Amino acid sequence: MAQQTNVAKFFEQWEIYQSVIVNNYMFHSEIVDIVTNEIDRFESLSILDLGCGDAYVVGKSITGDKKVDYHGVDISNASLQFARENLQGINGAATLINNDFVAELENIHRAFDIIISGYTLHHLEAEDKKRFFSSVAGVLAERGVFIFYDIEKEPKETPADFNERCCNIVANRWVSLGKKGTENTTTHMKESDKPETEAFHREGMKKAGLSAIRKVFRDKDDRYSVYIAERN
Ligand SMILES: C[S@@+](CC[C@H](N)C(=O)[O-])C[C@H]1O[C@@H](n2cnc3c(N)ncnc32)[C@H](O)[C@@H]1O
Repeated sequence: MAQQTNVAKFFEQWEIYQSVIVNNYMFHSEIVDIVTNEIDRFESLSILDLGCGDAYVVGKSITGDKKVDYHGVDISNASLQFARENLQGINGAATLINNDFVAELENIHRAFDIIISGYTLHHLEAEDKKRFFSSVAGVLAERGVFIFYDIEKEPKETPADFNERCCNIVANRWVSLGKKGTENTTTHMKESDKPETEAFHREGMKKAGLSAIRKVFRDKDDRYSVYIAERN
């Protein structure tokens, strides 16, 4: 619980992460292209966005006046205020829920066409991540799509080595965050980030019953991966 409080505290300072998005430090632009492609496969659709933050990705990925039923879940109230603004233009309902997504998944008794988990699962312990993949599979519609993107360590790297490597990149390259912003970010990463490998992510999704699992993006510094999986 203390761990989750730290995560919530960090993401209440939403302006730091907003700067990460604006500067494309975590490849949100590439992610928007991927999510747009998936959304475009549906004429109208429901979306469940777990750890949605400010819903920047979905807000940017909906083109035209496609009918959307959007549900976003996040523990950071600050981020949800921005989500409301980013989703203002959508044709449909935007339901924003200020809750832990693990707890919220237990309250969901319907299916969604697209489920997104972006840069948030790494805050959970390994066993909870596995249970999370199963819960997602349980609420994914037939022919639905799961879009999962997160930090991902190399097979032989320890979590501490991965976090150290990423923190060095933040300290040296994420200059737009300023000194305080980079310090807060690296402290958060060292305290709260629990990276897993590609094998762990693939196995977790497969065991949960997801199929056609494909990695559609990996950044050139081997830190972030984007997956698409299906339920059919
Ligand atoms: C790095 S941000 C990612 C935001 C967005 N998904 C994106 O792709 O940019 C992580 C988000 O997950 C939220 N979060 C972390 N743990 C959570 C939990 N257990 N339940 C709900 N939200 C959580 C944080 O508050 C934060 O908004």
